[in-house]
Amino acid sequence: MTSPVPAAKDTLTIRDNRTGREYEIPISEDTIKAADLAKIKPSDDGPGLATYDPGFVNTASCKSAVTFIDGDKGILEYRGYPIEQLAEKSNFLEVAYLLIHGELPSKDQYDSWVHQITYHTFVHENVKEFMHGFRYDAHPMGMLMASVSALSTFYPESGNIADPDNRQMQIVRMIAKMPTLGAWAFRHAQGKPYVYPDNDLGYTANFLSMLFKMSEKRFEADERLVRALDVLFILHADHEQNCSTNAVRSVGSSQVDPYSAIAGGIAALYGPLHGGANEAVLRMLRRIGSLDNIPAFIEGVKNGKERLMGFGHRVYKNYDPRAKIIKKACDDVFEVTGVNPLLKIAQELEKIALEDEYFVSRKLYPNVDFYSGLIYEAFQLPPEMFTVLFAIGRTPGWLAQWLELVQDKEQKIARPKQIYTGPRTLDFIPADQRWK
Ligand code: CMC
Repeated sequence: MTSPVPAAKDTLTIRDNRTGREYEIPISEDTIKAADLAKIKPSDDGPGLATYDPGFVNTASCKSAVTFIDGDKGILEYRGYPIEQLAEKSNFLEVAYLLIHGELPSKDQYDSWVHQITYHTFVHENVKEFMHGFRYDAHPMGMLMASVSALSTFYPESGNIADPDNRQMQIVRMIAKMPTLGAWAFRHAQGKPYVYPDNDLGYTANFLSMLFKMSEKRFEADERLVRALDVLFILHADHEQNCSTNAVRSVGSSQVDPYSAIAGGIAALYGPLHGGANEAVLRMLRRIGSLDNIPAFIEGVKNGKERLMGFGHRVYKNYDPRAKIIKKACDDVFEVTGVNPLLKIAQELEKIALEDEYFVSRKLYPNVDFYSGLIYEAFQLPPEMFTVLFAIGRTPGWLAQWLELVQDKEQKIARPKQIYTGPRTLDFIPADQRWK
């Protein structure tokens, strides 16, 4: 006689073989609460069970309704809308509204949003003065990070994060001022005068004007370039709990003002494994230099001496949907600027890697940064500026996630556990006795 199949239950039964005790833990949304594991103890006064998860590879840190990703299927959606549709039919400020407010704007809401963002593009003159104080060769990401965090001192009321109107004010300010700060960081390194915002231009056209305007009355960029950059901003606008967003949430969980939290995100984005990857891709392509050097480079990658920058992703193990859209934007931009000679090296690297067992078996595909650097270079921007553009695009996403965090009753100050591996209870010998 076979025993009846027990009715399916949304629980997990764990048997602790140290004690023989069994525990039944609820499963909800394919997760268990880590706090439930803490009930599993070898003895009543012993430490509770915890998980060890460096890099949060399999740990959800929050519930979020901002961005959905299915890495295996290559799906990315902002507030439920597929990235492909947003990139084709929307614009960056509308996407920013969607991310922050959770819904697409009505005509009035859109007009008012664009008006507010445009109105706040200027920064206090003191900001200009302290930006002037940076060394002539300061990295623009360092300047952006410092300037954004300094904004908290210009708007001390931003610390009142419990007030919804105050929160909205800072959100508008940050989205509005980020291109101004980014462009000025660029002009600083060029030794060129800072260009004030031109509020008769759209968001992205105004950014290009602040980057490149010289003595002409008005800088009018080619519409195709404006659109391509707007699409790049859309593609970068959010990516759920990535390293920089996690930094924004972690810093923000202390209830600090949003400028300081976003500065934390900019710091995280600066690193070569995250936003700095497109800069690293360009440097890598330059170092490879010609098609003949590709086989030796690929061998170096397979031997662990090199890393193929712009390939691989923590979440996408099939393809990065943003990379597909960027390839198309590449064509549009090169139509205006002429083809970047490094494109040939990038295409050949991609072709080889997509057929090579090393990359195929590890599910390594081009990510958003593999081609974005080539586009930015076509705009005549130096690699140091690439991550600044990423930061401008990511700002609405960081802010949407921050807003969600500060309104989430389940959130607490971020404070992970550790497994302590160092010595214990040593006797301290004062320096004058140790150094005898
Ligand atoms: N080149 C060569 N080998 C790689 C690469 C790469 N780009 N990426 C991963 N691998 C190998 C890695 O060595 C490991 O091999 P093994 O199993 O033999 O040890 C395996 O693939 C798994 O890699 P991992 O480091 O465990 O994967 P991860 O999820 O921790 O890292 C990543 C993800 C994006 C940091 C990594 O793929 C990487 O360093 N890529 C290059 C940097 C890059 O392009 N970053 C931009 C990411 S997209 C923009 C963004 O969202 O910030």
